[in-house]
Amino acid sequence: MKKLILDIDTGIDDAIALGYAISSCELDLIGVVGTYGNVYPDTGIQNVLNILDMFGETKVDVYKGETHALKKDDFVQDPVSAKIHGQNGVGEVEFPKSSRTMNTKNGIDFMYENIQKYGDDLVIVATGPMTNLASLIEKHPDVKEKMCQVVIMGGAYGIEGNVTPYAEANIWQDPYAAKVLFESGIEVTMVGLDVTERCLLNKKRTQEWRETGEKGKLYADMMDYYIDFEDDGETGYLHDPAALICAIHPEYFTYLPMHLTTVTEGEASGRTVADRTHLRDANPNVKVCIGVDNDLLVNHLHDNLMNLFKNNK
Ligand code: RIB
Ligand code: CA
Repeated sequence: MKKLILDIDTGIDDAIALGYAISSCELDLIGVVGTYGNVYPDTGIQNVLNILDMFGETKVDVYKGETHALKKDDFVQDPVSAKIHGQNGVGEVEFPKSSRTMNTKNGIDFMYENIQKYGDDLVIVATGPMTNLASLIEKHPDVKEKMCQVVIMGGAYGIEGNVTPYAEANIWQDPYAAKVLFESGIEVTMVGLDVTERCLLNKKRTQEWRETGEKGKLYADMMDYYIDFEDDGETGYLHDPAALICAIHPEYFTYLPMHLTTVTEGEASGRTVADRTHLRDANPNVKVCIGVDNDLLVNHLHDNLMNLFKNNK
């Protein structure tokens, strides 16, 4: 079983990814690091604790990572994020409140210690801004020599962004951090918008979740809130679950190695810029996902979540 650390800004699609991580018998979730992004860090961390405990995962510790972009002094929640994910990050759904508190160890140190311990047997999947990973690299430069697998949800290859015409939300939050990560020499797999926007979940599926019982209903109500934000009101993007599934089922995806960087200033700030010309000379640093078997992915996610809800009535 692959060890997993989720680096997360919970967030509805983050919460779906967390549910998948709990449900998967192919993953050993050893900890969660909460950061800012869709919500304030403490809100996201509370969401993670509530969900872990609701499914009986009371031994999985939750840590706090960075609370704002590296070149900024603070973080203010974007009003659009509050509309997409709800003020509480989980579609205004009230999950049973966990009585636990987070582990007081710094989330970046937690990541570092486990990279040292597990190396390639560990994967870090980042579904929020890249700030924690950049901070890890700046604080512990030796990770460039011994690193774990890294998969990110972020960026957009060949299409427009979702927060500006240029930028995808996770990269836009901290473009400098993304640049540090991409240019670090660490191999990164990027699952960007162009791929995740093909992974859609509809309300027929959430109705099936609802019918499994109380926990399935909470998840269905949360996902429906997110779906209702979309133009068609019928389907929602599985951004973060797609990145997590890529870590454990890379065969669902196709890739191109590219040399990637990020625009850090001006109108196009947050744009991921890929150079795939002259691949051999361009020194590829990122494995960019360019295709996905979305039916396979959505069916796999749905089956896993249905089992989770049925086994945790
Ligand atoms: O652009 C999609 C990403 O931004 C997802 O991670 C979502 O949760 C938001 O953070
Ligand atoms: Ca996210």
